[in-house]
Amino acid sequence: MSPSLDLTDPATFVRHDPHAFWREVRRERPVYWHEPSGGRPGFWVVSRHADVLACYDDWKRLSSARGTVLDVLLRGGDSAGGKMLAVTDRPRHRHLRNLMLQAFSPRRLGEVAAKVEARTARHVAAVAELGRFDFAAEVAEHIPMNTICDLLSIPEQDRKELLQWSKSALSSERPDSAELDSLEARNEIVLYLMDLAFERRAHPGDDVISMIAGAEVEGRPLTPEEIALNCYSLLLGGDESSRMSGIAAVLAFARDPGEWRRLREGSVGLDTAVEEILRWATPGMHFARTALTDFTLGGQRVRAGDIVTMWNTSANNDETVFTGPRVLDLGRRPNKHLTFGHGPHFCVGAFLGRTELRALLESLVACVGEIELDGTPARIYSNFLYGHSTLPVRFLPRAQA
Ligand code: HEM
Repeated sequence: MSPSLDLTDPATFVRHDPHAFWREVRRERPVYWHEPSGGRPGFWVVSRHADVLACYDDWKRLSSARGTVLDVLLRGGDSAGGKMLAVTDRPRHRHLRNLMLQAFSPRRLGEVAAKVEARTARHVAAVAELGRFDFAAEVAEHIPMNTICDLLSIPEQDRKELLQWSKSALSSERPDSAELDSLEARNEIVLYLMDLAFERRAHPGDDVISMIAGAEVEGRPLTPEEIALNCYSLLLGGDESSRMSGIAAVLAFARDPGEWRRLREGSVGLDTAVEEILRWATPGMHFARTALTDFTLGGQRVRAGDIVTMWNTSANNDETVFTGPRVLDLGRRPNKHLTFGHGPHFCVGAFLGRTELRALLESLVACVGEIELDGTPARIYSNFLYGHSTLPVRFLPRAQA
């Protein structure tokens, strides 16, 4: 078999079922070379759980510094390499990560989690009154972006614009959007954050930007650009993927009323449900690396300089690890999904991502009886993120169910 789908096209997994494709790839050519196209280089595609896990662990041979998203690597690499946490290699990565982890101290996380729970409960209670609405616009949009903005103390009046930029930075709601739109959106965010970095360095407060702006890494303070890029990575890392998992949860419940009932009636716990939604949704379809040396991977010879893509969507549905992977089982245990990655770059926002999803499930269980689809959800266009930009649904209040 020669896998035929173009993995560089943002519309590929809108037009084709990803799971049928990956099932065949895992079986027939678990590690394969994706041919170059449109003047852009080829790359390795890694699909099995064990191989994806091994790649995430292999930071000595697989570098993040040229970029970790396929599109960016195909365009020649990430200009934030060595400056922003996600695209920095050891040893600097370790120092930068220790600094960034201070943003997630138990005190800060406790405060942010309390706000997430209150905000989510408020939004879910309001839409449960409405009955029919677009879950993406009325609920999902308001939670993750506000959470990161709370963490970074971003003024309320600026958040709407940030959300608009964030929505076009990594994916698009239209099939015809230009690459330039996403570049522009990313630049706008970085410029906005650079202004804030200057401001907070001059007048520090008790917030994460001030903390990053006032710290030293390897004996020197970060430059305003480095501060902005690292705050940007929290914003981009924290907004869209969390938004997509919240939307995916409600969609999953609408399509599988039996599992929703199990959760609502308490037959399965919130913790296993959160993990299963994360596996089921896998908002980040792939992450990528660049090979630093020649080595063998899944029987294939990878050369120094090659781009290697690890497909979480496929790993999370590998039937050698997950029984009946396309069955939504909210009580699934164990559930060794790779939704947050693995190894040295394991998602620093995983606790927050889980907290947001848990708060959503808790609020749904408290207020909502039945969940029904009320139209066709619209998919986002991306070869990096998977999810929906709209989700028309109908909620029946719990008392009536
Ligand atoms: C890293 C997924 C939520 C910030 C990662 C990685 C994955 C991931 C797969 C590893 C990337 C790699 O190995 O190259 C997700 C998903 C989320 C989520 C699916 C939600 C469901 C968040 C949140 C934040 C965040 C809420 C911020 C508050 C980051 C950052 C990194 C990262 C800064 C880079 C870590 C490093 O390189 O050391 N995320 N993430 N993420 N994530 Fe998340």
